[in-house]
Formats: sequence, C-alpha cells, structure tokens
Amino acid sequence: MKATELLKKQHREVKALFRQAKKADAEERREILDQIEEKLTHHMHIEENVFYPAVRELGTKKTDELVPEAYEEHEVVKLVLGKFPELDPEDERFEAKMTVLDELIQHHVEEEESEMFQSAERLGDARLKELGAQMEAMPPGGEDEALDEDEDEDEDEDEEDDADEMQAGTDDDSEDEHVRRASAPKGRRGGATP
Ligand SMILES: [Fe+2]
Ligand SMILES: [Fe+2]
Repeated sequence: MKATELLKKQHREVKALFRQAKKADAEERREILDQIEEKLTHHMHIEENVFYPAVRELGTKKTDELVPEAYEEHEVVKLVLGKFPELDPEDERFEAKMTVLDELIQHHVEEEESEMFQSAERLGDARLKELGAQMEAMPPGGEDEALDEDEDEDEDEDEEDDADEMQAGTDDDSEDEHVRRASAPKGRRGGATP
C-alpha cells in the first residue's frame, strides 16, 4: 500500500472514533479516547520517523514549509492528549477538550491530505509503496520502546560530540571566531564614525 493510502486509512479510523466518542456516555468516552490516543501516537510516530523525512527530502519551497508545521502541530496534539489522564470523563472539560482535539486533528489532516500528500506524489509510486511497507512494519505500541532507543542513541551521540569537540576544539573555535569577525566590523565601524 502506498504510504499516503495507509496514512489516509488511519485518518479515517481516528475520525470514526471521534464520531463514536461524541455519542458515547462518560465511561465509554474514556475507553474510546484511549483508543484514539493509541492510534494517534502510532500514526504520528510513523509520520515523524518515516513519512515526513521522506517528504522533506523533496526540498521544495512548499515541503520546506509544510513539514516543519506538521511537526509543530503534532506537538500541540501531544500536549492536548497529555491533559486527559487528569480529567474525569464526567467533567465538561473532558468533552470540550475532546472537541478541540478533534478540530485540531481535522485541520491537520486536511492540510496533510490536500497539500502534503500532493507533494509526496513527486516521490513516485515505487518509493511511496516502499515507505508504506516500512511504516506497516512498525508495530503499533512500539513507540515507547523506540523512544527509549532514541534517548540512548542521543546520549551516545552527545558523548561522541563531546569527544569530537575535545579533539577538534580548536577547529570549532576558529569557526566561531570567523563568524564573530565577519559580523563585528559593522558595529565597530559604526562606533568609530559617529
Ligand atoms: Fe500528521
Ligand atoms: Fe496524518
């Protein structure tokens, strides 16, 4: 399945769950919201790790704008999702927050499907199918594990960076110095000729 088809299918599933949640009573609402959270977390994970980087590679003016915006919108979705555990489904704020989340996602999905997926077509069918297969192979619920791995990797990278800096410290400094020198004369000239 093409990556864009797989993602659209997941968009439809979440939309259907929101429709169900609106009709549900308080107890069911919590259960449905848990399902929404699970699906969205996985969906955002595969987009952020597979699909968005591939679209970003296109490097057009449009994708250079759309992809960073999409990451930011995911951040907002995650923020709102994180508020639910502390809320009682009977509380009116629960339903209000759910409506806000639904609208947020509708807007995001619309932008993805009408703009980003259109750009993604430039990747070609074969590449889109390859990306789709890659995303399908990522198991739902594996996000936490992947997150831990990422953190470990980051730590390793930080250590490597530190080591590199120690070894090549002078190079880095000279680069900074170069930037400082390039920007400093303007100010100095301004000061010298009042
Ligand atoms: Fe997204
Ligand atoms: Fe999406």
